[in-house]
Amino acid sequence: MKVLVVGGGAREHAIVKALVKSDAEIYSSMGNRNPGIADLAEKYIICKDTDVGTIVDFAQKESIELAVIGPEAPLGEGIVDELEKAGILCASPDEDAAQVEISKEFMRNLMKKNDLPGRVDYQVFDDIVNVEDFLSHYNGELAVKPVGLTGGKGVKVMGEHLDDKKEVINYCKKVLKEEIGGKSKVILEEKLIGEEYTLQVFTDGENVIPTPLVQDHKRLFEGDKGPNTGGMGSYSQADGLLPFVNEAVYKESIEIIKETLLAMKKIGRPYKGVLYGQFMLTPKGPRVVEFNCRWGDPEAMNILPLLKSDYLALCEAMAMGDISDMEAKFDTKASVCKYVVPEGYGIDPVPGNEIKVDEIKIEKAGAELFYASVDKKNDKIFTTTSRSLAVVGFAKTMEDAEQASERALSHIRGKNIHMRHDIGKPESIRKKVERMQEIRGEN
Ligand code: AMP
Ligand code: GLY
Repeated sequence: MKVLVVGGGAREHAIVKALVKSDAEIYSSMGNRNPGIADLAEKYIICKDTDVGTIVDFAQKESIELAVIGPEAPLGEGIVDELEKAGILCASPDEDAAQVEISKEFMRNLMKKNDLPGRVDYQVFDDIVNVEDFLSHYNGELAVKPVGLTGGKGVKVMGEHLDDKKEVINYCKKVLKEEIGGKSKVILEEKLIGEEYTLQVFTDGENVIPTPLVQDHKRLFEGDKGPNTGGMGSYSQADGLLPFVNEAVYKESIEIIKETLLAMKKIGRPYKGVLYGQFMLTPKGPRVVEFNCRWGDPEAMNILPLLKSDYLALCEAMAMGDISDMEAKFDTKASVCKYVVPEGYGIDPVPGNEIKVDEIKIEKAGAELFYASVDKKNDKIFTTTSRSLAVVGFAKTMEDAEQASERALSHIRGKNIHMRHDIGKPESIRKKVERMQEIRGEN
């Protein structure tokens, strides 16, 4: 089957690898020439992920039968609606359904109007005077978010990035004036305290097939310090849970996703594809931080390599709107993903440095390599301003998976590159478990 994959990141490299395992013939459109995807594709074009016209033309010319869209931006531009108009099946949501990620205002309103579990208190503003008025009566701590897309980098939280109400007001002014996220609107949310985790599901809008949980690490520096990034690495446990998430919380999170999907269907925006739930486990239970209308990056790299079932068949079933007789089986292995990024990534990145990658030694180390945003010139690989590549260690235990990821990193050399070694280390996991116990008042 001829399958188009849109996007040139490490997540899309993972999607492509999984589809190739199912014998798909890959066609790719990517913003940068990802060497991993380029090697596996029959054909690829280089264009912006949001250049819907060019991508649909390419898909029609190549008689593509099915499309999988990696990133959120083209979904927000209605790429699925256009591909479907051209008769191409899509295992991703249309523009109306993608609003669950594209507009945080839509998502919060949906949860409120339908009284969904896992929702949080929030208020949307388009005028700074109203923000000031609201803050003069509000005593708790807040998270401040642009309403639209910011690549995970627009959220600022009191006590972490913002010291006091004055700083909240200044950031709100900036979001409103500069239209950060594409709109002159800002959301103030109650600040959630707990540990975050990711639950990704396959869905046809009603039936849900959950995948193992993952914990991403958004902060740039070790010990979860520094600015938020697109994600510096992630881990998953062999049993599909996390060290601080038990079976009951996993089930509760699946239920929240199911109810959200039913609400989407009820309002005439049925959702198909992979739905990503970002949750915070708080003392009161799981709360929704956000939904994404696609696989997570890095989380896709933890999960897709473990999928034993036929990914292409799952994509086809989602695209056709019925996964009721499908299943997804996973290898019972832990995974630890670590990203290599250019020095200064997320602040003031230094691009253009060569990275030497020994692909064979990485594989021998028990890890997989996923290319992200790199330039390949004369068989050499150079950094850009975005994340460069990721390695993922897989093993029966988290300790062994983490060590495999470290062995893999030792086969990557370059100047001015940065990575977080702490991700998945026993010490770092122990701290998260202890923090969760402390928050829940269990010790
Ligand atoms: P988002 O782009 O909505 O995923 O937010 C990025 C990050 O900001 C999340 O992964 C959280 O770490 C943090 N965050 C977002 N919303 C909240 C909230 N209501 N309370 C505390 N932290 C939050
Ligand atoms: N890992 C965060 C995201 O994919 O948005």
